[in-house]
Amino acid sequence: MANSAMNRDRRLPAYRRELGFDPVAWLLARPGPQRWLDIGCGSAHALFEAGDVLSGHARIVGVDLVDYFGGPSRRGVDLVTASVLDWHPDEPFDLITSVHALHYVGDKLTALSRMSSWLTADGRLTANFDASALRDRDGATLGRRLSTALRRNGFDYNARNHRITRIGVGRPVWEFRYLGADAHAGPNYTGQDAVGSHYE
Ligand SMILES: C[S@@+](CC[C@H](N)C(=O)[O-])C[C@H]1O[C@@H](n2cnc3c(N)ncnc32)[C@H](O)[C@@H]1O
Repeated sequence: MANSAMNRDRRLPAYRRELGFDPVAWLLARPGPQRWLDIGCGSAHALFEAGDVLSGHARIVGVDLVDYFGGPSRRGVDLVTASVLDWHPDEPFDLITSVHALHYVGDKLTALSRMSSWLTADGRLTANFDASALRDRDGATLGRRLSTALRRNGFDYNARNHRITRIGVGRPVWEFRYLGADAHAGPNYTGQDAVGSHYE
């Protein structure tokens, strides 16, 4: 689902703030060439700004369900219109980010699995993630069952700042089966309407 009220225009300083680290500095601290994937990149303005700094050091790929890009692909920044749930990259990534995009994905655990499988051995995934959006058939949060499953599958989830991180490629195994999405779940911690995800 995509709605017109969502903020798709964050610039690089907002990416730093929302991710809790500086993706450009992180990439520059590693030997090139590096590869950065941003899922749900929106206008991609943050990626264009990063591309100017990372030119020659890192290639950037922005993927979004909607072609709302603020310009065409350019040297160092490739833009792809696709869903995180069915796109297939041709190479692994050193850094994968997702800034306030997983809130709008139905099967959030499959999205996490897919992104985890696209990392290099020491790559980093960091995304804004709201565990309370994952519910059982009756609408109750998955609570400790989910936090245990996230930890067991190598994710570090911080419920205070709603960020999830993992280091290194992995293929998570979930004890949950996706039942469907609720596009009318209402606002989440960001104040924006988000999509609820039901599992059993
Ligand atoms: C709130 S916007 C954030 C955009 C950008 N990250 C920013 O911070 O400016 C969320 C973005 O996620 C995208 N999105 C939603 N579902 C998606 C999916 N299944 N695959 C890829 N992108 C998706 C939306 O189209 C939207 O552009």
